[in-house]
Amino acid sequence: MSALYVGVMSGTSLDGADAVLVDLSSKRPGFVAAASIPFDAPLRSRLAELCHPGRDGLDAAGECSVQLAQAYADATRAVLSTAGIQAAAVSAIGCHGQTVRHRPERGFTVQLNDPALLAELTGIDVVADFRRRDVAAGGQGAPLVPLFHDAVFRDKSLNRAIVNIGGISNATVLHPGRPLTGFDCGPGNLLLDHWAAMHQGKPFDRDGAWARSGRALPELLSRLLQEDFFRAPPPKSTGRERFNPAWLSRRLSGSEAPADVQATLLELTIAAIIDAIDRFAPGTDEFFLCGGGAHNALLRERMAVVAAPRRVSTSEALGIAPQWVEAAAFAWLAERCLKRVRLPLPSVTGARHDCVLGAIYPR
Ligand SMILES: Nc1ncnc2c1ncn2[C@@H]1O[C@H](COP(=O)(O)OP(=O)(O)O)[C@@H](O)[C@H]1O
Ligand SMILES: [Mg+2]
Repeated sequence: MSALYVGVMSGTSLDGADAVLVDLSSKRPGFVAAASIPFDAPLRSRLAELCHPGRDGLDAAGECSVQLAQAYADATRAVLSTAGIQAAAVSAIGCHGQTVRHRPERGFTVQLNDPALLAELTGIDVVADFRRRDVAAGGQGAPLVPLFHDAVFRDKSLNRAIVNIGGISNATVLHPGRPLTGFDCGPGNLLLDHWAAMHQGKPFDRDGAWARSGRALPELLSRLLQEDFFRAPPPKSTGRERFNPAWLSRRLSGSEAPADVQATLLELTIAAIIDAIDRFAPGTDEFFLCGGGAHNALLRERMAVVAAPRRVSTSEALGIAPQWVEAAAFAWLAERCLKRVRLPLPSVTGARHDCVLGAIYPR
C-alpha cells in the first residue's frame, strides 16, 4: 500500500474545498501538493439554507451532495495534476464532507457528500463519514482534528494549544504528561463572514481591514459572551445551529455602527478562544493558529495582545501551512481507517471507547 493519501476538507465557512496530497511514510506528514476549489455562490447559499430546519430539503441535500462530490473530485484532480501523480499511486482519499446539521445530543450529525460518486470520478478508494461512529459510541463527533494535532504537533516539554479558526474555532490542548483534550471554542470566522457579506458585499473581511476601521464595543462583547456554550465544560462541539445570523441579530440593539460590530465580532472570536483555554487548559505556554482565520492579520495581531505573555504563532512554524492542516488531518484519518487503528476518542469527544472512524467506498 502506498503512503500517499489525499485529504479533502470543506468546513463551516462554506468557502470551498481544500485538498492536499501527503506522504504519510514518516511521523511528520510530507507535503506533496495542495489545491482549493471555491464553491460558487448558489452552492454556498443552498448549503447555508440546509444548515437550518426548513421544508423538505431532501432534493436540495441530494443535489448538493452530488455537486460537493464533483468539487471534491476537482480538488483531488487539481492536487494530483500539480504533483504529477497518477490516481493509482494514491492509497485513499479521506473526505470530510460538508456539515449541514450537528446534533450529537440527539444522536446524529450530517455531512453531505457522495463518496461513491467521488470514488467513481477519481478511481481512488474513498474514506468518508468519519464523525458518525464517534457519535454512535456516545461522543460529540467533533472535534476530530486534535487526534492529528497530537500525532504531529506535540512537544516534549512545552504546553501547546493548537487553535483552528475555521467557521467555528476549536482548540487542541497538548500538555506533556496529560491526556489529549480538545473542544470547540465558539464562532471562528462565520459571524465575521456573515457581517462582511451583509454590509460590504464581500465573502470575508480580508485581514480584518474593515474591522480595523471600527471600534470594539465592550458592552456588546460582554452580551455576546453571555452565551451558555462558552461556560459549558468539554467535551463540547457546536456549529451553525447555535452561532448564526439570527443569534447575532437577537443580541444587537440596531444602533451600532456596522464597522464597530465587525470589530466586536473579531474580539468575540479571540475571547472565545482565550477564555476557553484559561478555563479548560490553564498553563498553556504557546498558541499555534491554523485554518483560514490564521491568515487574518488583525486577528493574529489582537490574539498576540490578548494572549500575552504567551506566544502566538501559526502552524507554519511547526511545518504545515495553516490552510492545509485540516485537509491533512483527513488524509491521516483515512490512513488510520484503512489500517483499522482504534483512535483514542474518549478524552476529546466523550465517546465511551476508542473506535475506528470512517466508512470505506472502494474505487
Ligand atoms: N486573509 C484573510 N483575512 C481574513 N480572513 C481570512 C483570510 N483568509 C481566509 N480567511 C477566513 O478563513 C475562512 C476560511 O477558513 P477555513 O479554514 O477554510 O474554514 P472552514 O474549515 O470553516 O471552511 C474564510 O471564510 C475567511 O473568513
Ligand atoms: Mg474552508
